[in-house]
Amino acid sequence: MFSLVVLAAGKGSRMKSPLPKMLHLLMGEPLLEYAIEKADVLGPRRLSVVIGHGREQILERFSDRQFGAERDICWAVQEEQLGTAHAANVGIESLFPDGEENGDAGDVLILNGDLPLLRPETLQQMLNCHDESNADITVLTCVKSDPAGFGRIIRTDGNEDQEGLLQDIIEEGDADEAAREIQEINVGTYLLKPSVFFRHYKAIGTDNQQGERYLTDVVVQAARAGDKVVTIGVKDENDTSQVNNQRELATAQAHMRNRLIEEYLDAGVQIDDPSSTYIEKGVEISAGAKIHPFCVIRRGSKIGPGCEVGPFSHLRPGVVLEENAKVGNFVEIKNSRMGAGSKTNHLSYIGDGDVGERVNIGAGTIFANYDGENKNKIQVKDDAFIGSGSVLVAPVTVGKKARTGAGAVVLRGRDVPDGETVVGVPARQHNAKKDNTGKSQD
Ligand code: UD1
Ligand code: CA
Repeated sequence: MFSLVVLAAGKGSRMKSPLPKMLHLLMGEPLLEYAIEKADVLGPRRLSVVIGHGREQILERFSDRQFGAERDICWAVQEEQLGTAHAANVGIESLFPDGEENGDAGDVLILNGDLPLLRPETLQQMLNCHDESNADITVLTCVKSDPAGFGRIIRTDGNEDQEGLLQDIIEEGDADEAAREIQEINVGTYLLKPSVFFRHYKAIGTDNQQGERYLTDVVVQAARAGDKVVTIGVKDENDTSQVNNQRELATAQAHMRNRLIEEYLDAGVQIDDPSSTYIEKGVEISAGAKIHPFCVIRRGSKIGPGCEVGPFSHLRPGVVLEENAKVGNFVEIKNSRMGAGSKTNHLSYIGDGDVGERVNIGAGTIFANYDGENKNKIQVKDDAFIGSGSVLVAPVTVGKKARTGAGAVVLRGRDVPDGETVVGVPARQHNAKKDNTGKSQD
């Protein structure tokens, strides 16, 4: 049994942004979400998230968030950001509410909040290794082609059979030329016995470049005192990208984008050009759907089987495309349903729409959903035909098999009855002559 502590109180000054670092989005989700998701998968006994800088904003965004099967997150406050060891101390203490036995929370997995790409499987391996080797502390490391920005791992001399033991962790700011050459880095994830942490936490100082209490010093103190400190390596260096600044955010985002695309491809989605496709996290795409080049698909969209999207489409949150629906060139859709077999192929904006089945939406159609104060709904029922360049002003309904002529402006509240055709500006009923088949002749 173990508990998880996420360190998320830092200001993230290097981001040079007014937003707390943990709220920066990576493929549509805040950084902190990626840390909490690891708890959903791993199922720790408790989860404590240490917050400080910008905590009101963080709590606002995450107020409804629980983890696992509806379990509450413990939000621990670090009033002043005095370093990662201080943050860990706040987090670990919060796991032991008054009167509880220390052993109850189990060993503690401490995770820096800015490691979105770290896989739960890696953390699971770390948990297994920690148990099997009966370690006091297990540290995650990685050999990186570019170790810049990370703490470097210093080891004793090893031999062919055994790598050297962890001897020191030197932060980049405290490192000399030789230490900077070292490619093995501290990922920022530790599994430790709380008693071992507390013992060494008391002993560490702030004699370093940042004048902070370093969690890495706790690890080093423990190793020097003869506690069993074990390391485990991450093979894929992309998994260990951290986010300290905007460059690293962009890099981490590129890795995550590729990872998500591979997941969609493996699930049977056809993506013509992965390099120009941006699909955020949490999009549901059925096997057999086709995504053409240059599309942006934001989180919370659902794309059914047989659908085609793109090229050059923008699906914003809340879009549902039912079976065989098509969204084409230069179309933006937001918070809308497109029923089975419906098409909007060219140059349109569909906002807050509920479009039925087999509807054809002509080129250049606009759903005018916003009246300057409120967003309103537009309903287009089954088999309707919206002529090119139509503007539908919300709230309004276009009935079943109804038609709008090219350039029609259908005013708010002026619902088009089933089967009727409207034309003009503002749109009025079109009195077309009908032949005895009931078909319009024009
Ligand atoms: C830390 C490690 C470094 C490692 C790197 C990789 C230390 C001293 N250094 O450096 O060895 O290679 O992570 O991930 O630990 N935080 C708080 N309160 C604080 C300070 C930080 O909650 O007082 C949180 C931050 O929000 C962040 C995490 O701790 O999520 C790590 O802090 P950060 O400033 O990113 O540490 P690094 O300089 O990257
Ligand atoms: Ca960091």
